[in-house]
Amino acid sequence: MSERQIRSAAGSILYDASCVVKPDDELFTPAYWAGRTAIAATTGGRGQVVFIRDGSRHWVLRHYRRGGLIARWVDDSYLWTGEDRTRSFREWRLLSMLHQEGFPVPVPVAARYVRSGPSYCADLITTEIPDARTLADRITGAALALPVWRDIGRVIARLHHRGVHHVDLNAHNLMVGSGSEVHIIDFDRACVRAGGAWQAAVIARLKRSLEKIKRQRVDVRFGNAEWQALRDGYRGGSIAGSQEATKPRS
Ligand SMILES: Nc1ncnc2c1ncn2[C@@H]1O[C@H](COP(=O)(O)OP(=O)(O)O)[C@@H](O)[C@H]1O
Ligand SMILES: [Mg+2]
Repeated sequence: MSERQIRSAAGSILYDASCVVKPDDELFTPAYWAGRTAIAATTGGRGQVVFIRDGSRHWVLRHYRRGGLIARWVDDSYLWTGEDRTRSFREWRLLSMLHQEGFPVPVPVAARYVRSGPSYCADLITTEIPDARTLADRITGAALALPVWRDIGRVIARLHHRGVHHVDLNAHNLMVGSGSEVHIIDFDRACVRAGGAWQAAVIARLKRSLEKIKRQRVDVRFGNAEWQALRDGYRGGSIAGSQEATKPRS
């Protein structure tokens, strides 16, 4: 990866020069892609996500939005507190770090902010995880094998051992690929911090999310055995993680 930054019309773009040739505002404009076989899709998340299929490029474009639950309107502007604190640049840099450290996260392509007065809007492009479905969808109508649940626990343990606090780790932000490999997505507002009570809170939140999906949908295969497998993976992953930390780096 090769991190570069360039000014755009009303803001700036952070991108990986090894995969973006022409970094400009068009990249973040769904209408631009719509004329070039892009697939627009709305999913379980808050906002609209555009799946870009352009030659060998399989990218996912997301516009940062908040609200949605109570509010009928969606607000997409955030208070400007400096470039390095924009949602998009923070997520791009965290994904870049995690990807280079071998974590199963989307590879960041480009991030942008656009300023207007005291606020800004933001967008992020990542590489699409091929043939992946959200955990929520994977457990609807068919069971996910217990070793995969263990892998989910292990991946979360690795992330926690690295000190990464994913603040919205629900069943829509975990994805399972066709080979049953586990990915974590949506690192909006995530941060690196010392271990603490937040780690147990993340696990508890994921459990609430899975239980909610079970209430909302028909034929969701999630029960005690699945949760125990995830917990086992998490415990095992934490032990492996701490042993790894004591090993000298080669
Ligand atoms: N890199 C990616 N590869 C495949 N699918 C993705 C990727 N990023 C997002 N998605 C899909 O889009 C949905 C919403 O994206 P997400 O990053 O979670 O944003 P938000 O929840 O804020 O809308 C995800 O639940 C997933 O289905
Ligand atoms: Mg999400």
